[in-house]
Amino acid sequence: MAAGQRIAQLREEIERHNHAYYMQDAPTIPDAEYDKLFRELQSLETQHPELQTPDSPTQRVGGKVLDGFAPVKHAVPMLSIRTETDTEASGAFNFDARVKNALETNSEIEYACELKFDGLAINLRYEHGVLVQAATRGDGETGEDVTQNIRTIHCIPLHLKDRSAAVLEVRGEVYMSRKDFNRYNEKQREKGLPTLVNPRNGAAGTIRQLDPKLSAQRPLSFFAYGLGEVQGWTLPDTHSGILDALQAFCLPVCDERAVVKGSQALADFHQQIATKRDALPFDIDGVVYKVNSRALQKQLGFVSREPRWAVAHKYPAEEQLTVLRDIEIQVGRTGKLTPVAKLEPVFVGGTTVSNATLHNEGEIRRKDVHIGDTVIVRRAGDVIPEVVGVVLERRPADARPFVMPTVCPVCGSHAVREEGEADARCSGGLFCAAQRKQAILHFASRRMMDIEGLGDKLVDQLVDENIIRSLPDLYRLDVATLENLDRMAEKSAQNIVAALEQSKHTTLNRFLFALGIRHVGETTAKDLARYFGKLDAIMQASTEQLLNVPDVGPVVAQSIVAFFAEAHNREVVQQLRDLGLRWDENEGTAHLVLPLTGKIFVLTGTLPTMSRDEAKAKLEALGAKVAGSVSKKTDCVVAGAEAGSKLEKAQTLNVLVWDEAALLTLLTNNGEGFAA
Ligand code: IVH
Repeated sequence: MAAGQRIAQLREEIERHNHAYYMQDAPTIPDAEYDKLFRELQSLETQHPELQTPDSPTQRVGGKVLDGFAPVKHAVPMLSIRTETDTEASGAFNFDARVKNALETNSEIEYACELKFDGLAINLRYEHGVLVQAATRGDGETGEDVTQNIRTIHCIPLHLKDRSAAVLEVRGEVYMSRKDFNRYNEKQREKGLPTLVNPRNGAAGTIRQLDPKLSAQRPLSFFAYGLGEVQGWTLPDTHSGILDALQAFCLPVCDERAVVKGSQALADFHQQIATKRDALPFDIDGVVYKVNSRALQKQLGFVSREPRWAVAHKYPAEEQLTVLRDIEIQVGRTGKLTPVAKLEPVFVGGTTVSNATLHNEGEIRRKDVHIGDTVIVRRAGDVIPEVVGVVLERRPADARPFVMPTVCPVCGSHAVREEGEADARCSGGLFCAAQRKQAILHFASRRMMDIEGLGDKLVDQLVDENIIRSLPDLYRLDVATLENLDRMAEKSAQNIVAALEQSKHTTLNRFLFALGIRHVGETTAKDLARYFGKLDAIMQASTEQLLNVPDVGPVVAQSIVAFFAEAHNREVVQQLRDLGLRWDENEGTAHLVLPLTGKIFVLTGTLPTMSRDEAKAKLEALGAKVAGSVSKKTDCVVAGAEAGSKLEKAQTLNVLVWDEAALLTLLTNNGEGFAA
């Protein structure tokens, strides 16, 4: 085959895998296979430089280091929009009133509602469908040429599906997802390197990085929300029509968007997104309303360089300043000592925060945090609030540096920090009351032994009064002991004893998860239980055998071996068994094929009769995997009342959607006959 032909074939295939991986979260081939194709293309392009093109997937890895960014004059200025800082519904009413007033009309206006992404505005210039240039906003007239760095963003197509437009400038926001941000920071923290302050700085810093190889290591994403210069393409009549068209060209457009009529619907959109804000995979600082009709937009025009037809309606900020009063040490279940900032209470990201994590000693030093400092607190998504920086100018004269204790503040055991580890740990193990409390709460929690009524107040008393010294002691509790404790009566004591009794009949995976082995979470516990079938087999397994379990890597395997190598851990297991804990054992199903093996289900919304956990357990027992998000790989989405974006996504991806009744039929048939 001629080189040119093979190159075209490789590019097409790589693009297809890229699209599946980055846009649909559904990898189509193993990484190693992908790398092979990629290297073949790279070497062919090196041998035939005349066949290189700017839209080849090889251009995504980052080229040579730049001296600086060249200025780019925008063909159409990049404007900003007015901000409605009033976070109440009136923000929406005020905007609608201004629009109606300017249009001198009383009829309801149609609006396109979108999210206000918290990243960095970028203009992508496609000529005849090929990405030729990417520029930052700059001062709105002139930006900077950041094409090389933008090419490293995998969800940005290097060429469009439709190449008919001579010029198509797409505008949108480059952002870093919360997951990518947290993952990046966690890695940096482990290595003792500086962390990013927030995803927005992460995105901006990465785009303005002169070495594109460094940019390529920090994953960014993009959402299109508008247009710049356009030549040779007839624009749709509405803004929503433009976004739909961009999506059809394979550009990423956020699915959380709506076309609505009237001011109340705007306020409802604002409210509805507010409740979802924490669960979104990226930061937003508000929503954006745009008059949908392009004709009306034209009529409305601009005031002082801001369009009269669009507005940003804000949410409470996710970062705030406050004073750090003190630093306390929290002891985790595995003994990890976490310095926690005690703050002057502050309203941030929609709630009042008075504690925030400082992660570890190294972070405190790198951020130069002193007690008494004014600090920046960030609370975004469902991650715990953290101190991200200090306002040095506001440091008072009596501010004092923090000294990490050398002993555990709870049990006095030595605090140790192993070579190469960022975290200090209490060496007390279950001798440490804090670790014991956490271990018991972990053991008793709903997804493990599910001991109802065993909350933190009760566990505090049981441990502080030395009634419980190890997990098996739980099952030695009697009504007489319990009813003498604070806030307990005969009835509640009886309930706890009954709950303990009931919890004894469990499953192997719950029991494994409950033991609190480091790195063994719910999924790993299930994988282990399924693979080995028997506890003794797991306790005796070698690292090599454990590595055969799908998704178990060396760190997890070693942790399991180390756990069961400890005599006292084996003793705990033996005592629990002697006290009557039991579960079904079998030969292990790893080599068996169950009716739903290989099938991926997603559960969403409230099912009429079953809890989601219950449905999940039943599906898994038949071999299915139950995933948290919908992708092309999903075989079936079971949707109940108030199913939201997952249901929508299933419909767009044409994934089979069921109600609970259909699921119940499948379960009654033991999973037989499922074909999707
Ligand atoms: S529209 C003429 N839509 O917010 C209208 N902007 O001042 C131009 N932004 O820095 C902007 N999400 O980068 C628009 N859905 C969205 C947006 C959005 C975020 C940013 C934009 C700009 C600022 C607007």
